[in-house]
Amino acid sequence: MTESTSAPTYFIRTFGCQMNEHDSERMAGMLEAEGYERVDSAEAATVVVFNTCCIRENADNRLYGNLGHIKPLRDADPDKRIVVGGCLAQKDKDLIQRRAPYVDVVLGTHNLASLPRLLAESKKGPSFEILEQTEVFPSALPSRRESWWHAWVSISIGCNNSCTFCIVPAVRGVEVSRRMGDIIDEVQRLVSEGVVEVTLLGQNVNSYGRDLDGTPMFSRLLWALDEVPGLERVRFTSPHPKDFKQDTVDAMAGAGVVCEHIHLPVQSGSSDVLKRMKRAYTRDKYLQKIAMIRTAIPDVAITTDIIVGFPGETEKDFQETLDLVEYVGYDAAYTFQYSPRPMTEAADLPDQLPKEVVQERFERLVELQDRISIERNLGMEGKTFSVIVEGVSRKDAGRLTGRTRTNKLIHFPDDGATPGSFRKVRVLSAHRNHLDGELMDGGVDRAHRSPMGLPLLASSGPGCSC
Ligand code: SAH
Ligand code: SF4
Ligand code: F3S
Repeated sequence: MTESTSAPTYFIRTFGCQMNEHDSERMAGMLEAEGYERVDSAEAATVVVFNTCCIRENADNRLYGNLGHIKPLRDADPDKRIVVGGCLAQKDKDLIQRRAPYVDVVLGTHNLASLPRLLAESKKGPSFEILEQTEVFPSALPSRRESWWHAWVSISIGCNNSCTFCIVPAVRGVEVSRRMGDIIDEVQRLVSEGVVEVTLLGQNVNSYGRDLDGTPMFSRLLWALDEVPGLERVRFTSPHPKDFKQDTVDAMAGAGVVCEHIHLPVQSGSSDVLKRMKRAYTRDKYLQKIAMIRTAIPDVAITTDIIVGFPGETEKDFQETLDLVEYVGYDAAYTFQYSPRPMTEAADLPDQLPKEVVQERFERLVELQDRISIERNLGMEGKTFSVIVEGVSRKDAGRLTGRTRTNKLIHFPDDGATPGSFRKVRVLSAHRNHLDGELMDGGVDRAHRSPMGLPLLASSGPGCSC
């Protein structure tokens, strides 16, 4: 990336989830279509975009810290533009204007497509626009992908649930599904450009299609993707336990293209807390879904999200969470301390817990999950996996980093493989967040699709998580 170019330049900092990353790729695509070139720092860029998140309070603080840092550069350069987009912008347009009046453009989650126009208008003064409904599905916009072999594919936007802790429905709007034909067309086009793995994105992927057909169509989509020649791996995030049914498990087990990994956010192990969260499932119902998945896909890796310290959570409730975590044996868990959010029901619930109590529980949960993650990874030692190369290891320039179908990060000797190529790697040692391995049979793996029943990975024994 050159920084001595005379073309206008841009830099995007993404604060949020995969959907936010996907939106950043679209904003980058639009800017490049307008002649902007990417640079690697906010300091060097003509246009600096902060694509924000507001899921927890610390996300807000991070934005204002970044804005404060960039202000002197904006003051010194009349051509420089600061853009704030994403979920926090959707929630806080007026506050941003008050706290950071030097910001040039604010746009929300429903009007990414307006970025070039708002930038042009900002020559005359601050240009802020927030819409309440999506104008153009982001997937229709140009894109500049971060990876040539992997792509995010949006299958729906918004969310019709009302989890009492969650601000997403307020900032992303109601659920709108994309036509299945449009999704398949996009995936076929991506494959023709060299993509081998896609991650389907939606706040509740299992309800995909309900607004189109009156009935969920997610499993049909998975089967349809299995027919796309050249597509090797499909991942998805996130399924909601209440809508996750046998048809999706059958598609995961039967469609070779779908990876043996599921991220199934539980949030809490206590049925009382789940009820107050309005998650619409109980602890037992959740565990039934886990049993259904493990029966159909014994080698599946399961990950989750957990919130600690939801209002009114008792020590007994928390013990139920610890107990569930131990029982399920998650490969990994994203653990969060409850953060009260405006526009959510839980923010007004009584019995908000003291910070020290939440912190102490959080530490116990992390310690438990760390132990379990290591145990799960130890179960992979000695086994051979199909791995997609992601690039040179950040820790060791002589090694490559890749990912198994079960989404485990693995480091192995550099044989010159380029990102996106497949290698067969045997696990030598397991750690909490990664594995170390060696190349097998000359390394190259030609049987990329599901190992389920295929000889390549037949070394997986009973009870193995991966
Ligand atoms: N649609 C996804 C979740 C998106 S938000 C789903 O339902 O699975 C990602 C995660 O952030 C949630 O699963 C939850 O664990 C966490 N989260 C959301 N709101 C939060 C809050 N107010 N405080 C702490 N964590 C929160
Ligand atoms: Fe938020 Fe619940 Fe919707 Fe997920 S399903 S985005 S947690 S409201
Ligand atoms: Fe994602 Fe954060 Fe918005 S988690 S949907 S970027 S609030």
